[in-house]
Amino acid sequence: MQGMTSRERQISTTVLVIGTGGSGLRAAIELAEAGVDVLTVGKRPKADAHTSLAAGGINAALATMDPDDSWQQHAADTLTESYLLANPHTVQIVTEGAAQCIDDLERYGMPFAREEDGRISQRFFGAHTYRRTAFAGDYTGLEIQRTLVNRAALLDIPILDRVYITRILVNDDGAVFGAYGFDLEDGTRFLIHADAVILAAGGHNRIWRRTSSRRDENTGDSFRLAVEAGGRLRDPELVQFHPSGIIEPESAAGTLISEAARGEGGILRNGLAERFMHKYDPERQELSTRDRVALACYTEIKEGRGTPNGGVWLDVSHLPRETIMTRLPRVYQTMLELQMLDITKEPIEIAPTAHYSMGGVWVRPEDHSTDVPGLYAIGEASSGLHGANRLGGNSLIELLVFGRIVGQAAAEYSASLPAQKRSPAAVATARDEIAALLAADGPENVRALQRAIRNTMTEHAGVVRDEAGLRAGLAELDAIEARIGEVGVHPDIAGYQDLAHAFDLKSSALAARATLLAALERRETRGCHNRSDYPELDPALQVNLVWSPSTGVVRESIPPIPADISALMREVSTTGKLVE
Ligand code: FUM
Repeated sequence: MQGMTSRERQISTTVLVIGTGGSGLRAAIELAEAGVDVLTVGKRPKADAHTSLAAGGINAALATMDPDDSWQQHAADTLTESYLLANPHTVQIVTEGAAQCIDDLERYGMPFAREEDGRISQRFFGAHTYRRTAFAGDYTGLEIQRTLVNRAALLDIPILDRVYITRILVNDDGAVFGAYGFDLEDGTRFLIHADAVILAAGGHNRIWRRTSSRRDENTGDSFRLAVEAGGRLRDPELVQFHPSGIIEPESAAGTLISEAARGEGGILRNGLAERFMHKYDPERQELSTRDRVALACYTEIKEGRGTPNGGVWLDVSHLPRETIMTRLPRVYQTMLELQMLDITKEPIEIAPTAHYSMGGVWVRPEDHSTDVPGLYAIGEASSGLHGANRLGGNSLIELLVFGRIVGQAAAEYSASLPAQKRSPAAVATARDEIAALLAADGPENVRALQRAIRNTMTEHAGVVRDEAGLRAGLAELDAIEARIGEVGVHPDIAGYQDLAHAFDLKSSALAARATLLAALERRETRGCHNRSDYPELDPALQVNLVWSPSTGVVRESIPPIPADISALMREVSTTGKLVE
């Protein structure tokens, strides 16, 4: 490209946060409130980070509606529905710390929906014992993001939200000393020195074709950045398919219809107009867990009882109009905008959509530090809370609780460093990597290869998997990776998006490989992970699967659940969990 820049800006800060969504901002706020120097960078405009898409709510056992609720019951529900793969310590930290984080959010100005007497309203989300999901219509994530952006502005936190990070910089002792990246508009390189780095750059659910993430979101960036820095991934195969993503138009396939629609009384019907959830979970029906509702929808479709476009119907048209307008305004608007469909009158055609990475970067429960000294991961980038099935509303509370804790931990880590040791060789590698991609002029197109990965994952690692399919997926991935070596990268007058897509592609390929390998090793059916060749849950696999390129997939044991919490847990029955 004519006039292509190789200018480089150098910045120093105490803590660098990668990602401008809720978890990154919450961590940055904690640091700034403690007077610690922090810089936040991200690849999406801060007002429009992925958190803004989170819809239905945020969980905390505030007991505003159901006085018997407690953080212990919230912990018990989370552990039960994780199919015993969540880390009990992580779960306790989140559920016990949830109320304080809601208080913090209120202090920052969050406009929660309230009852007439001023109590925060809480609604049912699937598989919670009590109503404990606080909300702001079905724009909860958007309001949280706005609240945090405003708070960050008040604290003068610098946010560079068009900087794409390509590498975390690690010194000869294996410790972090910053990160390298470039400006998405003008290509200026960024060499950022930092004592600690907080990775808050999301998960990998965009590597499936139908997904609730937008085009350049959740492409596995956190996974690649952590692994290349020396970190590991935990349970990458555990990906939550949300039951309700729209089917059309193709360009918006997978866009989420919030679980709030079922929480408020929405009904699922198949293409024969039959209500079907009683066959899969007679007690909870539409309010069953996401894994079960998603599998139920998948089964109805697969067995030939789907709608004309290969989905099922989600119907809220029997609800009072006012409920829809006040509690589901985003679903109402989205359907009008995308399909000119009035949900107060007609049902919505939906199918399962890749929604959330329940696994992620391996972290310690207490402070979300990784294997790499000075590197932390939070939010969807991390792992430990959700196991094999995430309760809706638990991710927003996790990012607040761990944003706070990780902010404190990174500050303490920096304070403990006698000096920051750097590595010129690591910086040179990062510079060379960008230069090599910018010089690449091969025949392969990064967008087409991204599509190829998404096709492979959709075909071979969707709601239901088996050994033959997963192995075929790995073979396809080998071929795609060979083609990745032949890409041409062409930034243009509009900016350096093509370079960003090339890095996204590398990340997606790594995330896909980790997912397929771990999915192969999990020879059982548990939660979101349905193996048609292993339809039973295997007690011996009540372990986390940890992957890195050098170790492959390794089993990691999970600590026992404290007695006071296990006493509150219900048995998870698998009745009705029909794997084809
Ligand atoms: O359906 C939803 O509103 C999604 C919520 C969540 O994923 O936590």
